[in-house]
Amino acid sequence: MKAGLKFGSALTPTATKAMLLGSGELGKEIAISLQRYGIEVIAVDRYANAPAMQIAHRSHVIAMTDADELRKIIDLEQPDLIIPEIEAIATEVLMEVENAGRARVIPNARAVQLTMNREGIRTLVAEQLQIPTSLYAFAENFDQLKAAVDGGIGYPCFVKPIMSSSGKGQSMVSSPEGLESAWNYARFNGRVETDKVIVEGKIDFDFEITLLTVRAKTETGDIQTCFCEPVGHRQENGDYRESWQPQPMSELALARAKSIADKVTSALGGTGLFGVELFVKGDDVWFCEVSPRPHDTGMVTMITQQQSEFELHVRAILGLPVNTGLQKPGASAVILSQSAGKTSYFTGVEHALQIPDSEVRLFGKPEALMNRRMGVVLASAETVKEAKKNAVKAVSFIRY
Ligand SMILES: Nc1ncnc2c1ncn2[C@@H]1O[C@H](COP(=O)(O)OP(=O)(O)O)[C@@H](O)[C@H]1O
Ligand SMILES: [Mg+2]
Repeated sequence: MKAGLKFGSALTPTATKAMLLGSGELGKEIAISLQRYGIEVIAVDRYANAPAMQIAHRSHVIAMTDADELRKIIDLEQPDLIIPEIEAIATEVLMEVENAGRARVIPNARAVQLTMNREGIRTLVAEQLQIPTSLYAFAENFDQLKAAVDGGIGYPCFVKPIMSSSGKGQSMVSSPEGLESAWNYARFNGRVETDKVIVEGKIDFDFEITLLTVRAKTETGDIQTCFCEPVGHRQENGDYRESWQPQPMSELALARAKSIADKVTSALGGTGLFGVELFVKGDDVWFCEVSPRPHDTGMVTMITQQQSEFELHVRAILGLPVNTGLQKPGASAVILSQSAGKTSYFTGVEHALQIPDSEVRLFGKPEALMNRRMGVVLASAETVKEAKKNAVKAVSFIRY
């Protein structure tokens, strides 16, 4: 065998250092997987004691959208790997660092930049790659928005800030009377101050899925694309409530979904796991959006797969072999806070765990907000239907 990868130990001169930009519950699981390979983990977020910080070797609290602050922390830590966990990052700094060859950005700086902005990714996917999406247009003022809707997009439609995630600033408009308030809502609730929105025609889908797609190196060093079984999910107010795997779908729809995910992730490039969000109706499939990183709905893989989406991401990043196989059907259901503040408790965990084959993850977030995701329940069963029922039942016992 030829000389291969080398793994040092964290906190020694041989360490490989990984910087997580964003340290929430997904970052925490990525950190755990990284540490299993002895990687030194540096967790960064905008608030102290974020979930991944609680298990990282070091942490820093900075505004990650501030280019100077981000540059300073990269200069200080000199990471080998920069692993974004969220979208709100000063991506020009990632470009600089990558171009200077100072660190590997996962999956690469261009992919991170393109996907943080709905305009970038939609234009690439719909116009360059010619993949089916909803009808859409971009608008920089109310008149442009109205003209786009009247000119063919019609009602119902979705108005979203181009820079936003988790449903923030996003609304569905059913009739002309609602358009102006949707415009104002989008303008003032995006991630950054921008007046630009995307308006999309509503896709009347049967269900939506996340196709977790991994770009990883094979033994020969080529990059191979592998797919997890499709994850189905239910969204409410812009956030997911339950997800399950595998989502049953027609053979043709699955083949189309894989082909779309393959094209999109190949165009983005790099190695790592991607969450490709798709709408499905019968045999038809439309692209919605893509995360170049583990996806919240993919938390279900912590119970359904031998290698969770986090382990797959880390293996792909490190150049290790991956196995996307499903072990058993399962579901996840999120625990949302019913109050705001710093001094609450989870209750009912012991009752939730009475449900057969269930597991609970409490994220350890230092502060709750109304409806903030504080934990997740996982359940596996013989069938997806049973797993979903069990996850929903188990989560109903837990309060925060
Ligand atoms: N064009 C659309 N047609 C139908 N449903 C949509 C459309 N756009 C968004 N949605 C619904 O809203 C959810 C969130 O939209 P998405 O574009 O994924 O934004 P976010 O970045 O907030 O996740 C989707 O998962 C879907 O349930
Ligand atoms: Mg989404």
